[in-house]
Amino acid sequence: MKTYKIAAIPADGIGIEVIAAGLAVLDACAADDGGFRLDTTHFDWGSDYYKKHGAMMPANGCDQLRSFDAIYFGAVGAPDVPDHITLWGLRLAICQPFDQYANVRPTRIFPGIKSPLRDVADRDLDWVIVRENSEGEYAGQGGRSHRGLPEEVGTEVSIFTRAGVTRIMRYAFRLAQARPRKLLTVVTKSNAQRHGMVMWDEIAAEVAREFPDVTWDKMLVDAMTARMILKPATLDTVVATNLHADILSDLAAALAGSLGIAPTANLNPEHKFPSMFEPIHGSAFDITGKGIANPIGTFWSGVMMLEHLGEKRAADRLMSAIETTLADPANHGPDLGGKANTRQVTDAVKAALQASARASLPVRAQVPELVPAGA
Ligand code: IPM
Ligand code: MG
Repeated sequence: MKTYKIAAIPADGIGIEVIAAGLAVLDACAADDGGFRLDTTHFDWGSDYYKKHGAMMPANGCDQLRSFDAIYFGAVGAPDVPDHITLWGLRLAICQPFDQYANVRPTRIFPGIKSPLRDVADRDLDWVIVRENSEGEYAGQGGRSHRGLPEEVGTEVSIFTRAGVTRIMRYAFRLAQARPRKLLTVVTKSNAQRHGMVMWDEIAAEVAREFPDVTWDKMLVDAMTARMILKPATLDTVVATNLHADILSDLAAALAGSLGIAPTANLNPEHKFPSMFEPIHGSAFDITGKGIANPIGTFWSGVMMLEHLGEKRAADRLMSAIETTLADPANHGPDLGGKANTRQVTDAVKAALQASARASLPVRAQVPELVPAGA
């Protein structure tokens, strides 16, 4: 039987609760499938580790992770550790060295979930946001001088490289090409940012020539927020810089009903390094330990992980179980206006998985193609 080595890093806050739920569901999924198993190793890195050791993870952390097939990540952030330390000390400290340059964020309105948009039908909002995940505004360039003096300076430099922009554009065009509508929107801000963003646009146009069957357009990021709300059905695949996509993906998740549902894949599409899968939400210390975190975002991230590992059938089954579960409002947690807790949602997904395994129901392929051929 195939065995995949999974590194679990629950880290902080509700990350611990949702990763436990996610692993239980993934193990159930593997057992139902019968063709593979997950061999999971837990890492206790995060803010508590930081308080004991002065670092979010050991200096050789990435070396410890290198031989894994995938990383399943919870959330970072604690009330008593500055956010830039938790983020740069763990999540970005893994994303950058492992060159997980494609951050993929699918969003859909599931049957049973109410969007805050008044007149939107479920099928009108089915997007995948591709976030450049290695450079741009998160490149880590900049500094501070004259600290504390009135002359103090702080710079935060965005870095755009031809190599970095070309590869994310190619990835986004390939992903758009693999989806039925073959439609891509390139988000930009080249009216105001006339260097890096103009290069971004030029490279988009160059790469577009390699994909004559993909329809694409360009959208300024401010106007994009209005379009997402007013004309959601005109969008399908979206590519944006690190920061623009960070912001737009929170909007997308809210429009689809809740941040608690939304998944992320931090991909190294070439499989040179392990990729990392995590719910989009943060550590949510206001509800930590209450057992009410919505585990769906973690389950859907698990679907993306299975897909990336090549376990398409299991990925489809888990996606269907998520759909079945969300269709029943009894399985909605507080973030969706319901009363279900983490355990109830987890049990409902496991039950839906078992029912589909017993009935051998045909499963619908709902998972976007994550590693389009030739990526
Ligand atoms: C995300 C998050 C992170 C980010 C936070 C935790 C720093 O918002 O994954 O979208 O901005 O990248
Ligand atoms: Mg974000």
